[in-house]
Amino acid sequence: MTADRTPTSSGFFVSTEVNVNTDNPVPTPKAPAPDVLRCAYMEIVVTDLAKSREFYVDVLDLVVTAEDENYVYLRSMEEFIHHNLVLRKGPVAAVAAFSYRVRTPEDVDKAEAYFQELGCRTERRKDGFVKGIGDSVRVEDPLGFPYEFFYEVEHVERLAWRYDLYTPGALVRLDHFNQVTPDVPRGVKYMADLGFRTTEDIQDENGTVYAAWMRRKPTVHDTAMTGGDGPRMHHVAFATHEKHNILAICDKLGALRRSDAIERGPGRHGVSNAFYLYLRDPDGHRVEIYTQDYYTGDPDNPVVTWDVHDNQRRDWWGTPVVPSWYTDASLVLDLDGNPQPLVKRTDDSEMAVTIGADGFSYTRADDDQPMPEYKLGNQL
Ligand SMILES: [Fe+2]
Repeated sequence: MTADRTPTSSGFFVSTEVNVNTDNPVPTPKAPAPDVLRCAYMEIVVTDLAKSREFYVDVLDLVVTAEDENYVYLRSMEEFIHHNLVLRKGPVAAVAAFSYRVRTPEDVDKAEAYFQELGCRTERRKDGFVKGIGDSVRVEDPLGFPYEFFYEVEHVERLAWRYDLYTPGALVRLDHFNQVTPDVPRGVKYMADLGFRTTEDIQDENGTVYAAWMRRKPTVHDTAMTGGDGPRMHHVAFATHEKHNILAICDKLGALRRSDAIERGPGRHGVSNAFYLYLRDPDGHRVEIYTQDYYTGDPDNPVVTWDVHDNQRRDWWGTPVVPSWYTDASLVLDLDGNPQPLVKRTDDSEMAVTIGADGFSYTRADDDQPMPEYKLGNQL
């Protein structure tokens, strides 16, 4: 953490600019970056389409826009584009695309030129890679993730007014992606070049960056970079209107004898201030249910930095984080459909520095006794 950080009464620090520096930067292309609007959908490969459909449709109440024997296209209640999640039947559970909508058709051209200048493999399909989406480009990005950019899309009915269809745990919007990458500062610089602004990050006293949250739309994030062996997908997140909707999902899972789908939470995040719940789908893909983060659209929105040793950075309050939340994530595919090999993280791991007898993690920064470790582990 650098000098211009200002402490707040909530325990984190604010800065006017992001203070993340990389010694291994992705080059900045001369070509202009595409104007990205928002994270729009994720395509995931699932091994048992019927089981996954049951989880996302019957349990989580996503809306089916279209389906066939190999695909299910799902959207949230407030969405007007064709889908926010594509389930594709395949042999290996993985992520096939993190897809972003861009502002104009020409921004798809810009995305193609931008990633070609970076030396990345790209594939352009005028009729789209999946139903409902037109001209798109998919790329193997410099961090190894399959990113997609599109503008043309089939509009469908926005069901926001259809209160007769709402269920107590209704998912209303796609909120964000979360990616696992070994070198978070490299990811932050690459995403900044692509036009993403950092809203929050987690660092230590030596400047090691454990995670960062970046946005295009004016929320806390469209995607986050979590430090770990990568490229992998940590989670995809859908928003509810209110926190009681998240508790209703917990109640429903209990009633269905499916409470083992809950991996972490419910709780309140420090980072993002959101109320949250993490679930695992039948293939182990992690889904976050998320609500009530804050507006970030002003150009001078303060950048929030949390101390990795602040026990309240990830849980303002809540139950212990299970180790699987730090260690497990989904594979991602290259443009041929093969899983990308993983690169090990060499920087310190967040789990390692915040558990055990480190004596660093605190709930009250001025307590002079080492805090008993309780935010992770300590389970029978
Ligand atoms: Fe998240």
